[in-house]
Parts: sequence; structure tokens; C-alpha cells
Amino acid sequence: MTARSREFSLKTLLLLALLAVSLPPAVLAGSVVFKLAASQEATLEAGVRQRVDAIATATDRYFDSVASVLQAVSMSISLQRGDLGAFRTTAQALVHTDALAGGLALLSTTGSVLLEAPGSASTDGLEADARDAVGEVVRTGQPAVSNLYASHDLRNAAVAVAAPVFRNGALAYVLLTLVPAAELDALLRGQHLPSDWIAALVDQNGTIVARTRDADRFVGRPANAEFMSHVIGESGSFTNVNLDRVDVYGTFRKSPETGWLSAIGLPRSSLVAPVQHSLAWLIGGSVMVLLVAVGIGAWATRRIVAPVRLITAAAHTIGEGHVPVAAPTGVAELTEIGRELVKAGERRREAEAAERKTAEQLQGRQRMETVGQLAAGVAHDFNNLLMVLNGNLEMLEREPLSPRAARLVSAGLRAVTRGDKLVSQILTFGQRQMLKAEPCDIEAQLSGMFGLLQTALGPEIPIKHDFAAPGAISVVDKTEFDRAILNIAINARDAMNGPGVFRIATSLAANGANVAGPSIRVAFSDTGAGMPADVLGRAFDPFFTTKEVGHGSGLGLSQVYGFARQSEGHVALESELGQGTTVIIELPLSFRKPATITEEAPGRAEPSLIGLTVVVVDDTPDVLDVVTATLEAVGCTVLRAANGAECLAILSDHCERVAVVLTDVMMPGGMMGTELVGRIREICPNVPAVLMSGYAQHQNDNDVLRKPFSSRMLLNAVQAATRKRGERA
Ligand SMILES: Nc1ncnc2c1ncn2[C@@H]1O[C@H](COP(=O)(O)OP(=O)(O)OP(=O)(O)O)[C@@H](O)[C@H]1O
Ligand SMILES: [Mg+2]
Repeated sequence: MTARSREFSLKTLLLLALLAVSLPPAVLAGSVVFKLAASQEATLEAGVRQRVDAIATATDRYFDSVASVLQAVSMSISLQRGDLGAFRTTAQALVHTDALAGGLALLSTTGSVLLEAPGSASTDGLEADARDAVGEVVRTGQPAVSNLYASHDLRNAAVAVAAPVFRNGALAYVLLTLVPAAELDALLRGQHLPSDWIAALVDQNGTIVARTRDADRFVGRPANAEFMSHVIGESGSFTNVNLDRVDVYGTFRKSPETGWLSAIGLPRSSLVAPVQHSLAWLIGGSVMVLLVAVGIGAWATRRIVAPVRLITAAAHTIGEGHVPVAAPTGVAELTEIGRELVKAGERRREAEAAERKTAEQLQGRQRMETVGQLAAGVAHDFNNLLMVLNGNLEMLEREPLSPRAARLVSAGLRAVTRGDKLVSQILTFGQRQMLKAEPCDIEAQLSGMFGLLQTALGPEIPIKHDFAAPGAISVVDKTEFDRAILNIAINARDAMNGPGVFRIATSLAANGANVAGPSIRVAFSDTGAGMPADVLGRAFDPFFTTKEVGHGSGLGLSQVYGFARQSEGHVALESELGQGTTVIIELPLSFRKPATITEEAPGRAEPSLIGLTVVVVDDTPDVLDVVTATLEAVGCTVLRAANGAECLAILSDHCERVAVVLTDVMMPGGMMGTELVGRIREICPNVPAVLMSGYAQHQNDNDVLRKPFSSRMLLNAVQAATRKRGERA
């Protein structure tokens, strides 16, 4: 078993090609977008971290600046002198400045309030919450920031900033100011973060000190436990669900100075939004690209599939034996194929036409062959009948007859002559006519016929000739050739039926298709009515005529056909209705010289045949009777034989007595005349033989008496044969 490779439709292949072209770029674009999206996310996260660092730095700077103001205050002369009364006045003036608007307090190193100048912030519970900061200042000798100082009123929440006051190198007091939580809120807002981000400050206790959104709800409250669980270390990022139940990305930084946390949280959605945006673009773009590709593909497929169907149809058309029509397909290569298919179709049609023509010609030739055989067979029998009629009528003619009987006999003899002519034409057509072929100068033969032809054509039809083959020789039976020319001329006259022109043209042709070797062509043209196709197709058929009864026997062109074929030549008809007809006879060229014509010596004496013994061989008793009677009438002794064997039997006894043997050629069932002649030569070499036949091929070697023959012809033949015997002896 052989594995069959799968068949794909053109559509499938084109679709695959399209996908192969459009998918890889889509996949590549996808991976690039994914990478870009990831790096975009990382960039955004880094940006968030920078902002949280900025908040931490800003907060630290803010507290530093407050501490610097406190340090500057600590250097005031009143304080350095310990003149607290004077310092009170200074302090009360200072709380009207922006820097210390929250109020100013001077505390002992143990934390007790020595002096207080209240500002915008409430000082309720100051001691307790500031204690840590004071303690820190005492411990480190550095400024410190407290956790959120939360009174029961959150709106007044504040943070304490404490700074040391040194006198003579020793810590003498602690200066403290309050920073309202609202100030820190303002600091956060000053960062101008995107609206969906939330920034917050968380003190060391984990209490929210400031928040960019809903500060009044959250400030003073402990930060979300989950958030607190993430903020381990100096800085970091995390994701969690915030108090608003929003999935957030968070990042934080712990200030080393205050220990406070700066944190920013933003909805994860705003982080991944650009990525999702890119993805949406990618998917949308890919779908668009694919749709456009499929659209283009469908269009291209139609542009290709439709022409392919056209080409397929063209191939089918050729398959059915027709020629397809060339049409542009819209695809250059396919149009080219289409053109080649049309050419192939035309070549095929031409080949078929040629084949048909050859077949028709062959068929026509075979038909003519068959008809010829039939006609020749009939003619043979007719010849014998005519022989008998002729012989008997001739003998009757010699009897004393009444004038009326003599007229009847001579009418009978004329009919026999006409019958003889007809049979002779039939035989010519059947190519069974005994031809006396001899080299003939064709143009000379034609010229010699001009007078007779002009008589036949009449005064209204001049003969024009155009000879271009001077001296061309062909081996033909001149009598048959003359008859053929006459038949053609008479047909031409009938076709013109009035004034016209009869042209005879000769030319030489090299190796032709119709005749082997070089040939001479003789074209006879008339300006007559021409022939319709059906007449043209049958014109050579014996007995085919379009003429009225009594005007044509339909044997004229049959004779021409038989003559040409038997002369190893060819004949063709060209005819156009209303224009005229041309009969073209083509004959093989010969290089034998034509014999000079020797006139038979006139006034030769009638040969005397009295006492001669003649053997007559014929299988037809009536013929035997007529020949016998004719010979006996002139004094011959006739020995009759019905076949070759009888003849040989006679000769074996009477070789010396026999003057001549007359034998039929065709004797079905027995020995043929030609064979008999051979045998006679063997046993009686001096006895001449004469063949009697109208049905024979070229019999150039023997003397032949063509049937039907008159008594004169018979006696002449016998006379000639006996002369030969005399010469041989
Ligand atoms: N030159 C021609 N022009 C037109 N038709 C012709 C010509 N020659 C022959 N034909 C046609 O061919 C037919 C056959 O011709 P053919 O010579 O064999 O017989 P016929 O002329 O009819 O009779 P026949 O020649 O025996 O007297 C004619 O009847 C005629 O229709
Ligand atoms: Mg004719």
C-alpha cells in the first residue's frame, strides 16, 4: 500500500500562509508588550518609593526646622541669664510667629512646666505626652519629637518638638513647641500626590498622625494591624487590603530621626492600569490585524480561486474536445496558463480535423475500391454478353436479309458498340481496363486534343492554356487519357451551359503527397455552376449523375478517376458554387522516351486463314460458339476447349497441327489464361497464344484481344499471331 499524501484545498493553503505571516508578529508584539508592561510596573513602583522617601525627608526637614527655631530660642539672652520673667515676654512674642504658632513651653529637665505661652494648639495633657520627648532630650542632649499628642479632642491633636537649652555647657531646661496635626496634613498635601494615592504618617506608637484622605476619620487612630505587620525594617513594599477595603500596593520608609513611618498606598488597579491598557491595545490591535489579514486573505483567495476555477473549466472544455475561450483571469500566471490551454485546445482540434480528413479519405478510397471491384465484375459478364451479341449479329449481317431485317441488325450492332463503350468506362473506373501504357508527352497530347475539345465545347467556350511543363513525359494509355480529357471538357460545357472559358494549365511538382516522386499536374478549370458539397463528395462514384435521364450515365468522372489511379497518379476536384470547378490530374513523371508513331501500312491485304487449326479456350459456351462460328466462317478448323486442362490435352497430341491458341483470361475455378499461356510455351514453344479479355491487368508481354471484339479484330489477331509463328519457325 502506498501512503497517499493529504490533499489540501487552495483556500486552506492560503489561510495557512496568512496565519503563518500574521501570527508570529502578533506573538512577538504580545511578548514585547508584556515585557514593557512588566518594566512599566517596576518603574511605577520605583516612582512610588521615591515619593515615600520624599515625604519622609520632608517630614524630617520640617521637624529639623522646628528644632532649629527652638535651638535659636534656647540661645536667647534672657534664657541664658536665667531671667525667666524676661523670657516670658520673649516667648509670648514668639508664639505669634509662624514657626512657633502651636505654642511654646519651658520645662525643667524633670519635665515640670516652668513657663508656658499657649498658641494655637491645646496644651491639655501636655505633660504626659510630652514626657517621652522631654526624657529623650534629657537622655540624648538632642532635639526630639513626640508621638501624637492626642487630647480627647482629635481636632486639636498635635505633636510636640522638644529641644535642649544648655547653660554654661550643662542642660538647664527643655524648650517645647506643639505642631498641630493639621500642619502635617498640609505637609502631606503639599506633596501633590495623584488623587487615588493615600499617604500617611504614623508615629512610633503606630498611631496615624496625618493622612491625605479622611484625616478626621483616621488621625489619632491606630493604623490597621495588617499594615503594621508589613512595615518591618527601614523601608519596603507590600500589598494588602486597606481600611477602605481596597486592594492596595503599599510602600513605606521609617525615619531614623523620629522613628515615624511615611507610607503611601495606592490601588493596585492604578498600578496595573497602564499594563492592562497595553494589553487591551495589544489584544484589540491583534484582533484588528487578524481581521484585516483575514479580509485581505478572503479577497486574495477569491482573486486566486475564481481564476483557478476558470482554468479548471478550460481544462474540462479541452477534455470534452472543445476549444476554451481565452479570457484575462486577473492573475498573470493563470492568464498565461489559460492562453497555453487555448493553444493546446486549438492544436488538438487541428489534429483531430486532420485525423478525420485522413480517415474520410481512406474511407472514400476503400469505398471506391469496393465499388470498382463490383463494377468490374459486372463489366466482365457484360463483355461476354456483348461478345455473343456482337458475334451473332455480325454473322447474321452476312446472311441474305430483307432491308428491314438488315436495319434491325445494324441497330443491334450500334447498341452493342455503345454498350462496349460503357463497359469500357466501367472497367477504367474499376482499374481493370487493359491499358496500353506508353510514354506520352503530356502537353503534346493535350495540344493534339484542342480541335476535338473545341468541337465538343462549342463556339461560346474558348480554350485557354497555360503550359509550364514542356516535354514532360508520363506513362499512360493515350486513348484513356484522351477519353478522360473529353469527359472533363463535356462536364465543363454542361456546367457552363452557355458562354464561359475552359482553361488547361500544366505544372511540374516535386515529391507530392498524392503521387510518389515528381509529377506533372494538369488542371482543367471551367467557369461553370460549381458543385454543392454533396455532389462534390460523390462526383467520382460510378453512375452518379445530376443530369436528366438520358443526358448522363454518371461514368465520365469515374473513368477519369480510374484512369488516374491506374496510371499511378491522382485526381482531385476543387469546386465553388457559382464560381466554377477545377479538375486536377496528377501523373508521375517518367524519363522514358515516347515512341515515334508508326502509321500502320495502309492497304494491307486481308490475311488468308483458310485451313488453319485454331484452339479456342473459354469457359463461357456462348462465347466459345461465337468465336468458333466466326473462325469457321473464314475456313479455319476450330478445336474447342472449356478450360486450360482440355487445351493442354489437345496440344499434347496436335502440337504441330495447331496454328494458334485463343484463350480467355478469367476462367474461375480452373487454370487462368495467363498460366495456360506459360504452359503452352513449355510444351509447344512454336504455338503463339492470344489472350481474350476485357478484364486484365497490364498484359504487355502477351498478345491480347480486348473483349468485346468484332470479327475483324478477331481475325486480325489470329492473322498477326500466325505471322509470328512463321517468324519463330
Ligand atoms: N465541371 C463540373 N461542374 C459542375 N458539376 C460537375 C462538373 N463535372 C461533374 N459534375 C457533376 O458530377 C456529376 C458526375 O459527373 P460524371 O462526369 O461522372 O457524370 P455525368 O457527367 O453526369 O454523366 P456522363 O459523364 O457519364 O455522361 C455530374 O452529373 C455533375 O453533377
Ligand atoms: Mg460527364
